Amino acid sequence: MLILNKTAGVFFKPSRRKIYAFLGSFHFHPGKLFLHKLVLGIETSCDDTAAAVVDEAGNVLGEAIHSQTEVHLKTGGIIPPVAQQLHRENIQRIVQEALSASEVSPSELSAVATTIKPGLALSLGVGLSFSLQLVDQFKKPFIPIHHMEAHALTIRLTNKVEFPFLVLLISGGHCLLALVRGVSDFLLLGKSLDIAPGDMLDKVARRLSLIKHPECSTMSGGKAIEHLAKQGNRLHFDFQPPMQRAKNCDFSFSGLQHVIDKMIMQKEKEEGIEQGQVLSSAADIAAAVQHTVACHIAKRTHRALLFCKQRGFLHQSNAVLVVSGGVASNLYIRKALEIVTNATQCTLLCPPPRLCTDNGVMIA
Ligand code: KG4
Ligand code: ZN
Repeated sequence: MLILNKTAGVFFKPSRRKIYAFLGSFHFHPGKLFLHKLVLGIETSCDDTAAAVVDEAGNVLGEAIHSQTEVHLKTGGIIPPVAQQLHRENIQRIVQEALSASEVSPSELSAVATTIKPGLALSLGVGLSFSLQLVDQFKKPFIPIHHMEAHALTIRLTNKVEFPFLVLLISGGHCLLALVRGVSDFLLLGKSLDIAPGDMLDKVARRLSLIKHPECSTMSGGKAIEHLAKQGNRLHFDFQPPMQRAKNCDFSFSGLQHVIDKMIMQKEKEEGIEQGQVLSSAADIAAAVQHTVACHIAKRTHRALLFCKQRGFLHQSNAVLVVSGGVASNLYIRKALEIVTNATQCTLLCPPPRLCTDNGVMIA
């Protein structure tokens, strides 16, 4: 503070920009000098160990992440004790990296924020016990964070979005539509009755053995489907979007997944190959699956938007739909949602891909 006062005295009524520029020339860290509220965010709800330091103005001072995707791809899905062990092995390093990148020491933090739910209990436990030790050691306040609320609010870091807005969260573990009325004021409009779309895409990719496809071996299931779909013809297969007559905003993916499984089995017979080999029609199947998932998500979201507009729950002239979660990085699904928002005169906003997937910034 002493440095700040002295420096400010150099200028006559100095602008914030001038002070920042002046301090920058001395290699000071403006975030640390001006903005005293620094929050460390810690995320371990699923298969990413992530941490970040964010200041009170929303500037990301530093972040670090360790993804377990490669390990889980090899075992054919997330095995909770394996995820727990990997979180244990990485959490200390990841938090240290986020703090070092921020040039912030634990004693300078204002609080530690950590995901406490929902998620895999064993994974959540690692982040929680690490955080509780940290706040106990450095006598800092602890902020428990709801993972879905963090996903829903992330857009406010990158865009000026007023409440209320509609949010669609689609990932490997989540699928919901909610009206966001305030920082912790959510109205749930719809959710998946069974599995999440990312989970379904991962299962289809596994059933298609896409890990053996040379172009897809290191990609998550959803990403592999999107990649292959570009080379395929969706019209070669006809899958029906689920719940076409349901008068609500819920989703369902497991019925569709079973239909696809049966189709794959039939194709394996036709092509005379064993389960575990890649079908020659894999790209066509990927294209049809992606199209059907996109249609289903877009139709349910359309219903939610119309409902909110009819009831006056969203701004009449500037209704906003925010889409986040790993599946939101799929450009074909985004395009389908864009058609819906254009038809309803709404604005579609998606955080950048790195903030769509699980990360420490959204928690901080
Ligand atoms: O948000 P996220 O990193 O983790 C949680 O599930 O919370 O999302 C991961 C999910 C996985 O199921 C993955 O297959 C899917 O997002 N995903 C995609 C794409 N990239 C990742 N799904 C469709 N298209 C993509 N490009
Ligand atoms: Zn998530």
